[in-house]
Amino acid sequence: MAALRTMAAAMAAVALVRHVQATEVPLPPCLDPFRPFVYSGCFQDSGNPQILPYRSPAPPDDMTVEKCMAECKGNGYRYAGLVYYGVCYCGSTVNGPEVEESQCNLPCKGNSSQTCGGDNIFSVYTDPTFPIEDVTVEDYDSLGCWTDDSSMGRALTYRQDKVDGATLTTEKCLLACRDGGFPFAGTEFGGECYCGVVIGNGTFAAPAGECDMACNGDSSQTCGGRGRLNLFVSDELQSLEPCGYEPPVSSSSVVPPTSTSTSSVQTTSPPITSTTTQPPITTTSSSACVSTTVVPPTCEYKCGKWCSSPLPDWQDAKTCKGAWSHCTLQVASCFKHAGWPDVLNCFDFGEWCADVSKYCDTKPSGGCRKSDFWGKKPPRGGAQPPKTITVTTTCAPATSTKPATSSTTKIPVPTPTNICQQPTSWLHGYGPGKPVGGIEMPVVTCNDLAEDWPNYPFKQYNDIESRKCVKYQRHQCPNACADACKEQYDDCVDVYAQGCKLKPKRRAEEQSYFEFAGSIEKRTFKWQDSWGVAIVKCKAQYADCLWTNKGVTGSGKCPKYGGW
Ligand SMILES: *[C@@H]1O[C@H](CO)[C@@H](O)[C@H](O)[C@H]1NC(C)=O
Ligand SMILES: *[C@@H]1O[C@H](CO)[C@@H](O)[C@H](O)[C@H]1NC(C)=O
Repeated sequence: MAALRTMAAAMAAVALVRHVQATEVPLPPCLDPFRPFVYSGCFQDSGNPQILPYRSPAPPDDMTVEKCMAECKGNGYRYAGLVYYGVCYCGSTVNGPEVEESQCNLPCKGNSSQTCGGDNIFSVYTDPTFPIEDVTVEDYDSLGCWTDDSSMGRALTYRQDKVDGATLTTEKCLLACRDGGFPFAGTEFGGECYCGVVIGNGTFAAPAGECDMACNGDSSQTCGGRGRLNLFVSDELQSLEPCGYEPPVSSSSVVPPTSTSTSSVQTTSPPITSTTTQPPITTTSSSACVSTTVVPPTCEYKCGKWCSSPLPDWQDAKTCKGAWSHCTLQVASCFKHAGWPDVLNCFDFGEWCADVSKYCDTKPSGGCRKSDFWGKKPPRGGAQPPKTITVTTTCAPATSTKPATSSTTKIPVPTPTNICQQPTSWLHGYGPGKPVGGIEMPVVTCNDLAEDWPNYPFKQYNDIESRKCVKYQRHQCPNACADACKEQYDDCVDVYAQGCKLKPKRRAEEQSYFEFAGSIEKRTFKWQDSWGVAIVKCKAQYADCLWTNKGVTGSGKCPKYGGW
C-alpha cells in the first residue's frame, strides 16, 4: 500500500534524521475531525529514532483516534500514532517496523471500542491528502530569507545534528529534510540545518540581504545569517487540504473529467490503492469495512512552475462563490511563480476563475456542482484528476453506525475585493479594470487565518498558501498597498515588458510555448508597446499606485474574523 511504501523509503535513509533536537511549540488541533485519515497498520517503536517524533500535549485520559488525528493534522503532520491506551504521537515518517495486527490490542481510554496500540506498539493512521510522488531535492522551492529569532520557538523545529556543519551545503540540508519527510527546510548561520512540518509562529519573511552568510561547505551558496534562515519548501510533502476538509462523497460521478492529455496524466503518478491492510482486532467484535476516499488532485490548474490550490467542492451558489474567491485570490501567486513564458497562461487562469463566478450565477439545471463546472471548463496545463483510494478499516460496531453529523466549519474565504486602488492615467491608458498589460495588483483583503486575529486583520494574497502571504496590522494598510503596487510592478516588468520584447520574432517559432493558450495569442497580439515603452508604463503605474494608496486606511473593512 502506498502509505507503507512511503514509510519504507523514508526508513532507508533515516540515519540522517536520527539526532534531532525538537523545539516544537504545539499548535492547536483541528476543530473539526479530519476524516480522510486512513488506518495504516500496527508498528513497533524501535526507540532510536523515535517512531514518531512529536508527542501531543493532549491528555491521554480521553484520547480517541479522532482526537489524535486532529492533533496531528493541526500540527501539519502526515502520520498519527496511538500507543498505550491513548498517548498520541505524530510524525512525517514512521520510523519502525510493522508488526502483527494482534499486537495492537489496547483500547483507547476515550473510546473503548477503538484500538490505541499496545505497549510500545503504535496504531498508525495516515493522512492521504499528501501528494505521494517521490520527492527529490529539486522539488524544494526557495522561499527566500526568513527570521529565526522569535521568543516563541524556532522557525523550524527539527535541527539536523547529523548533517556536518563544517561542510554544509544547501543540497545536504534539503536531502536530510527530504529523507525525514519534512516539507520545510532551512539553512542558518553558515552551517546549521533545520527541518519542519510547519513554519513557526513568529517567523516572518525578511529582506534577502539579511541572509548574508556563505555555506561552510560551498562559499558560492548562502546559508542564512545570524537569526536568519534561507527557507525552502516542497509542496509535494505538504497536505493539500486544511483542517475541516471533507472528501466529496465517493461515486464515479464525483471525479471530474480529465482534460485532453489523459494518458500522460495517468502514467505520471500511480494510483494510490490500498489492498493489504488487515482490520485491527479489537476486543469487541468488528468486521472489515471497505471505504473509498477521493483524494483531491495534486495540481488542479498548472501554469509552468505553478499549480493552483484545488478549489473546494461546492453544492450551491453560495459555496460556488466561495470557490470563486478562493480562485481569484490565487491569480497574483500565479504571476509571481509560474515562470517565463508559461506565466502568460496565468491570464487564462484568471479567466477560468471569472468563469467560476459566471457559472455560479447561471443556476445550472443539474445542480450547481464543481464536477459539472469541470465538465464544461476543464482546468488546463496538465491538471490531474482526483484519485480514488480504497481503504479497509474497522467497521463501527453495528450498534453505533450513526454517521457523524457533518458540521462544515471550513476556513472562511474572504471576498477578493482589494482595499488598494488601481491608479488611473489618461496618458498611459491604464485605470481600474485595465491595468498595464492586464496584470492586476495582488488582492489585499481580510486575513483568512484565525490565529493572526485580531492583530493582523489584512493580508496580501500573493501565494496560494496563506501562511506565506505577508500579513498587516490595520495601521499598516498603506504598507500593504505599497507592497501590492511593487508586486504588480515586478509582474509588469517580468511579464508584460518581457512579452513586448519577444513580439517581433515570436510569430512562428514562439508559438510552441503556448500549447493551450489560444486566447494568449490574441492577447499578446494586443501588446503593441515596445519593451522600452512598456517599462515606462510599468514605472508610471507603480509611482501612481504608491501615490494613490498612501492614505488607505482600511477603515470599516474586515472588522472581525470571518465577518467580511
Ligand atoms: C501564535 O501567535 C499568536 C499571536 O501572534 C498567539 O496568539 C498564539 O498563541 C501563538 N501560538 C503559539 C502556539 O505560540
Ligand atoms: C467510538 O468509536 C467507534 C468506532 O470508531 C465509533 O463508531 C463511535 O462513534 C465512538 N464513540 C464515541 C462516543 O465517539
